[in-house]
Amino acid sequence: MATLEKGKRILVTSALPYANGPIHLGHLAGAYLPADIFVRYCRLKKRDVVYICGSDENGVPIMLRARAEGKDPQEIVDRYHAMIKNSFEGVGMSFDYYGRTSSPVHHETSREFFCNLAEKDIFVLRKEKQLFDPEAGLFLADRFVYGTCPSCGYDKAYGDQCEKCGTSLSPDDLINPKSALTDTEPVKKETTHWYLPLDTIQPELEKWLANHQDWKPNVLGQIKSWLTEGLKERAMTRDQPWGVKVPKEVGDKIGVDVSGKVLYVWFDAPIGYISATREWAEQQGDPERWKTYWQDQDTTLIHFIGKDNIVFHCLIFPAILQLHGDYVLPENVPANEFLNLEGNKLSTSRNYAVWLDDYLQKFDADSLRYALAANMPETRDADFSWKEFQARHNNELADILGNFVNRTFTFITKYFDGNLPECGPLDAMDNELVAQMLASREQTGAAIDNFRFKDATRSFIDLARAANKYFNDKEPWRTRKDAPGQCATTLHLCAQTTHALAILMGPILPFTAEKLWQFLQLPGRADQANWQDIGSLPLTAGTHFGKPDILFTKIEDAQIEPEIAKLQKIEAKMNQAKSEASPAESQSTTITIDDFNRVDLRVAEILAAEKIKGADKLLKLQVDTGLDKRQIVSGIAQHFEPETLVGKKIVIVANLKPVKLRGELSEGMLLTAESADGTLTLVDPGAISPAGAKVK
Ligand code: 2FM
Ligand code: ZN
Repeated sequence: MATLEKGKRILVTSALPYANGPIHLGHLAGAYLPADIFVRYCRLKKRDVVYICGSDENGVPIMLRARAEGKDPQEIVDRYHAMIKNSFEGVGMSFDYYGRTSSPVHHETSREFFCNLAEKDIFVLRKEKQLFDPEAGLFLADRFVYGTCPSCGYDKAYGDQCEKCGTSLSPDDLINPKSALTDTEPVKKETTHWYLPLDTIQPELEKWLANHQDWKPNVLGQIKSWLTEGLKERAMTRDQPWGVKVPKEVGDKIGVDVSGKVLYVWFDAPIGYISATREWAEQQGDPERWKTYWQDQDTTLIHFIGKDNIVFHCLIFPAILQLHGDYVLPENVPANEFLNLEGNKLSTSRNYAVWLDDYLQKFDADSLRYALAANMPETRDADFSWKEFQARHNNELADILGNFVNRTFTFITKYFDGNLPECGPLDAMDNELVAQMLASREQTGAAIDNFRFKDATRSFIDLARAANKYFNDKEPWRTRKDAPGQCATTLHLCAQTTHALAILMGPILPFTAEKLWQFLQLPGRADQANWQDIGSLPLTAGTHFGKPDILFTKIEDAQIEPEIAKLQKIEAKMNQAKSEASPAESQSTTITIDDFNRVDLRVAEILAAEKIKGADKLLKLQVDTGLDKRQIVSGIAQHFEPETLVGKKIVIVANLKPVKLRGELSEGMLLTAESADGTLTLVDPGAISPAGAKVK
């Protein structure tokens, strides 16, 4: 694969999870399991690979959780760091180092980066008025502020993004902004911040990205949409009490007081990969070694992330690395899409999720790894269902893989006293099985190298499937009597296939691989094996094997039913809340007639409608308001085809403060009605209402 041809060393990272809550299956399928499969495979291929992760312990998500629990942020990150680390161990994540961004090494590394860029005069300093919550005494950036999305009207949009329509926002874009801390209306207060001029860096980034057009299409698609829209400068500092402090020397040099200022969490978090590598090198007793992984051009850097992190890993962090100048840039960022659960979006706040620590108390890690690898959200969102999980475990792991290992050694125990029989001359069918082992080695390996984990899983289980077929077709229960030499060869090859499978399954099923490895009395551990030994038939005739333990016990309906019921209960609650929210919400907040009269509602006619390149949720409408002709950008692209809208009369809020969305000016908002199932209808003023008519 292009990604790996270049490098002697491979540095793999998985997104640093926020230490503000436990890990769920969506996290696992997105950024962790694929990386772990890849890294385990690289180790079996004897590549020089280091796998880095850690907890993201700064930023607004941590502060919000601390506030919600009435605890100190330090207490929160200590608790969740330990919990997350433990869950990761339980599910077999084989990090070489799991760090945390509260560590002194991280603070020092992040500040070094900031100073480096500041010394080069890269940042643009801006004095501006920002939203401030006087009650909490805090500036409101990112998720500290919420309000109505100017694009879709969702009233709980955050200051950095509307989670409903996906539009990227800044706090100033929000209509009726409210502090997420006190629910009060913020005021404006002057402050100074350091901005990264991504707009001027864009051409350099584009040059670098031009050499990476082999990245996954879902990743390239998102990058393209950001670039088409044009990158905007982004503040790299915040007025917040928790995080990496802005270096005093940077402020002193230009006479700005940096007390109360920290680095933006998305400035320091990816640098966490570097600081964790430094700590790893220290732990190895070779403190300078991290440099060979970060600063030597022979390193291949690969970031595994979920799709919500694409802009940070494919544009912002590479820009920072490029501007610093001493570092390698990522060679690939194989981001995954999202994992849904039983047909619905996961919701951590509503507890609609399968939490890893809870899962691990009831089921085996390998069953989950297999089910998620077989159904990974590689290029589009995927869905996890308990029924499918059970079917994968029972029909594939137990009935195909487990059954093959079990029947092989049960037969050897029963008819060969547990001793591996001799291998006689091979016939066509025998040769075919050996060829299948070698082919599976190549196919599974190539699939992992190309981040096609579903294909890799299929290719590995197909060898077990082929081996079962071989066992059936060879009918050893018959040849035992009329062709004992053939029977011996059949069982010999079946046992050799279990060896091949023990290596082949290692990246996906590490716990089962180890169990089988020990049963086969092979030297060392399964994760120390050599991928090239797949199909090398190394087991020696005469070796005595006992009866194997059952590798996979079937999962009964009774085990998964409570899990399904739990989710159904939450789903019912969510649906109820949703249907109650739509019609009742407007009734629950009382406003005065004066408040209402401030909203200028008017009939308008749609003159033209078109999609906005790179923004799959937005439509650009030209409307006649009776007073003027203007443009409105609306988050309705997934509900209406643009051509069906032309000529339609609609109701708009005509006096909404204009905003820019994806670089397009939007001067108003159109009214829609959303039913409980998410269907959107335009509010229809009737064909005879003329454009410009006031709606009261
Ligand atoms: O989205 C998140 O959960 C972030 N904590 C990911 C950070 S990845 C990296 F940059 F550290
Ligand atoms: Zn929105």
